[in-house]
Amino acid sequence: MSDPTPNRNPEIKYKQLFINNEWVDAQSGRTFPTLNPCTGEVICEIQEADKADVDVAVAAARSAFKIGSAWRTMDASKRAALITKFADLLERDKEYIASLETLDNGKPFLDSVDDIGATIDCFRYFAGWCDKITGQTIPVDGSYFTFTRREPVGVCGQIIPWNYPLAMVSWKWAPALACGCTIVLKPAEQTPITALYAGALIKEAGFPPGVVNIVPGFGPTAGAAIAEHMDVDKVAFTGSTEVGHLIMQAAGRSNLKRVSLELGGKSPLIILADADVEDAAMWAHAAIMTNHGQNCCAGSRTFVQEGIYDKFVEVSKTLAENRMVGDPYDVMTQQGPQVDEAQFKKILDMIKSGKDEGAKLQYGGERWGDKGYFIKPTVFSDVTDNMRIAREEIFGPVQSIIKFRDVEEVLERANATKYGLAAGVITNDINKALMLSQKLQAGSVWVNCYDIVTSQTPFGGYKMSGQGRELGEEALKQYTETKTVTIKIPQKNS
Ligand code: NAI
Ligand code: MG
Repeated sequence: MSDPTPNRNPEIKYKQLFINNEWVDAQSGRTFPTLNPCTGEVICEIQEADKADVDVAVAAARSAFKIGSAWRTMDASKRAALITKFADLLERDKEYIASLETLDNGKPFLDSVDDIGATIDCFRYFAGWCDKITGQTIPVDGSYFTFTRREPVGVCGQIIPWNYPLAMVSWKWAPALACGCTIVLKPAEQTPITALYAGALIKEAGFPPGVVNIVPGFGPTAGAAIAEHMDVDKVAFTGSTEVGHLIMQAAGRSNLKRVSLELGGKSPLIILADADVEDAAMWAHAAIMTNHGQNCCAGSRTFVQEGIYDKFVEVSKTLAENRMVGDPYDVMTQQGPQVDEAQFKKILDMIKSGKDEGAKLQYGGERWGDKGYFIKPTVFSDVTDNMRIAREEIFGPVQSIIKFRDVEEVLERANATKYGLAAGVITNDINKALMLSQKLQAGSVWVNCYDIVTSQTPFGGYKMSGQGRELGEEALKQYTETKTVTIKIPQKNS
């Protein structure tokens, strides 16, 4: 296959709400701009969904979920075929979709291509589950035959962020569709374009109307309307811990809808002194710099044992200096702009706090270029646990290198956070690797690697990094209810 070719000016075909397999304007008539983060200029105006539109989308999803509907009576294997068809359409349009993703989000084109690849993979993986979601027969006390059924939970509201716009669609849609649910998705206001295009492919693949609905708009309006809705059975959210609280509160105030949350992190990557310094520094660099640091499981606290600390800092600095920042459509580029001005300002503010609190700036620490939202890859050494850059999620290309003495000490310090999304260990000592991987409080622990997330593996957080797990077989729990059916067995033939 030839190398994928970026298109700098991809045509944007879908800018409306997608409800019942139709494109419709927002009832208010309002639109909002989506911006190119390389320049801050408007790409196009998108119809802005609000509560009234969410009501219509939820009604469409409810109607598609009715007992006896085309979707509810469809064989599971046919559902699998539709999801597979959808994945094939994504594959057909991969270059175009990756071009759209780079335009709207700013990530390097080849990273967008990788994301779309992971997206396709996720749909194919969950397509395989459709006709394998089984219950149990249970040997109950008494003369009864008892079995369980796994039934779709119903209408699912899904609210996603902007850091992996289309991949986040796949983490939400693929298990929900595999389980037979219906969907109202709100993409992030910063990056609605690829999700809307995916809506067009849902229709082309032949999903019945109302199975998937898309309501682009803002969090406090469209997002909150989903979380508060009395006729939404489940809400799945990925984003900030702050909004995670609001989603749970909204579910508590309304109909106790099921909630799954994938939130922030401050994930430790622990490098022991026996590790190869160059190799460890490369993993640590990738762990924080990937996707411009806009990654929920970013290795944002680099703990390095004292024997190799100075050398490690030196190598990390060189890696940051050599990172290619610039035009995301250039296939050599490793880092484009941050997604928007708010993130750009937040990151620069965090960098300032690092300087003010006495961390040693090794490289970067300022904007790159003179337009758009680019930030230089930034490396701080001499970071201590109490500094803001060691405690708060930065969500930017800012590495905080922290020194430690021994394994017991670093374990305690690594776990001393409200978050628990991920952790990493780099060492050649199998005993230490096993001990740390057992005791680190995190939903994913990577040893001698980092950020290896696959469709087959559960992903999610301990503590305030979330509720529930996405991906893998575990994800099916988020989209099914278990029904127990008990039937009396007569003991006499009468
Ligand atoms: P956010 O949590 O505000 O936005 C994520 C999604 O939630 C978007 O679709 C947004 O419209 C929606 N939302 C916002 N307020 C809502 C509300 N009241 N009710 C329902 N939905 C709502 O995150 P934001 O503001 O984009 O970024 C802030 C910080 O959050 C980042 O700097 C980063 O630290 C963290 N974050 C973490 C992500 C992750 O992957 N876990 C992804 C994005 C942000
Ligand atoms: Mg926000």
